[in-house]
Amino acid sequence: MTILTQEIPTQAVGRRKALDAYGRHIHYLRVSLTDKCNLRCVYCMPEQMVFRPNEELLTDDEFVIVLRAADMLGFDKYRLTGGEPTVRPNLAGIVREIAQLPGTREITMTTNGLKLAKLAQPLRDAGLRRVNVSLDSLDEAKFHRMTRWGHVNDVLAGIAAAEAAGMTPIKINCVVIRGFNENDLIELACLTYERDWQVRFLEVMPFADVAEFQQATMVTTAEMIAHIEATLGTLTEVNDGKLDGEARVYRLAGARGEIGFISPVSAPFCANCNRVRLTADGTLRLCLLKDGELDLKTPVRRGATSDDLADLMQHAIWRKPWGHDLANGVIPLNRIMSEIGG
Ligand code: 5AD
Ligand code: SF4
Repeated sequence: MTILTQEIPTQAVGRRKALDAYGRHIHYLRVSLTDKCNLRCVYCMPEQMVFRPNEELLTDDEFVIVLRAADMLGFDKYRLTGGEPTVRPNLAGIVREIAQLPGTREITMTTNGLKLAKLAQPLRDAGLRRVNVSLDSLDEAKFHRMTRWGHVNDVLAGIAAAEAAGMTPIKINCVVIRGFNENDLIELACLTYERDWQVRFLEVMPFADVAEFQQATMVTTAEMIAHIEATLGTLTEVNDGKLDGEARVYRLAGARGEIGFISPVSAPFCANCNRVRLTADGTLRLCLLKDGELDLKTPVRRGATSDDLADLMQHAIWRKPWGHDLANGVIPLNRIMSEIGG
């Protein structure tokens, strides 16, 4: 890792390509459309979570101004997140706006799936390519204990609708929490025998007020793999061990689908980072696990154009941190996951 120079090279400004000081090309924007959620997952937020007032969030028009700036900077891949993105009104309209940006190549969404049964087809029609659906257990009682409010069947209906709408391959996200669902990963892994899904197991990351719980219940990827192999047999690496996004991917013998592991804590993937995040209240967050942010809402509300914002964003991206510092005990303090979008 070398810092190329302290100053942003002028040709990088002229070419409208967002590079950071480590030479990484940043072209993937994760957009949190709301901090609100219709679940209260224990590893994500307290049950009495207080959300931001709506007037603190970007309006649809303000989002479009910022997204045009991202497009000017060469962003081509967007993931909609939350909180829970499907609780944002006019979601399909926002998808359509992103789909119409000249540089857009792919729009995806991470969702808890509860509202997908109704929304999958309209979202697909608007231009949404794929979804990652969170599913932490197939057992109704455990799922309910983990999400506090959710029902498994609603999620399964949402996944079926996404598949029927052609949003494939389906990816399932399962955050493994000791004492809650660490034994459920076997049943979830077995889904891949029958289904052409990628079931991904995530190490839980620590954020602000929830960090103590998250750190106490974290299960490492190595432990997850050992547990699955002891029960279901060898996991064979696919893609020659290359990461698929942030997941390392394997297959069980005879399975149709794949099993992925996302290991932000035990094996950080910062070196290949190509993303930044836009929070629902209009800040550009440079690293999921570092507090540094650029306020875009204030300039937008003072009349900044997409061109102006593109300049601001480009300079901020140049100063994107190399990576997180969890190994040295540095955890993000100013927001929890649902306020960033993951
Ligand atoms: N660590 C890891 N994953 C998390 N998710 C939510 N909070 C955390 C956390 N602290 C997951 C959700 C969803 C995706 C956005 O990230 O379950 O699948
Ligand atoms: Fe909502 Fe996702 Fe957080 Fe669960 S993890 S409470 S579904 S934002």
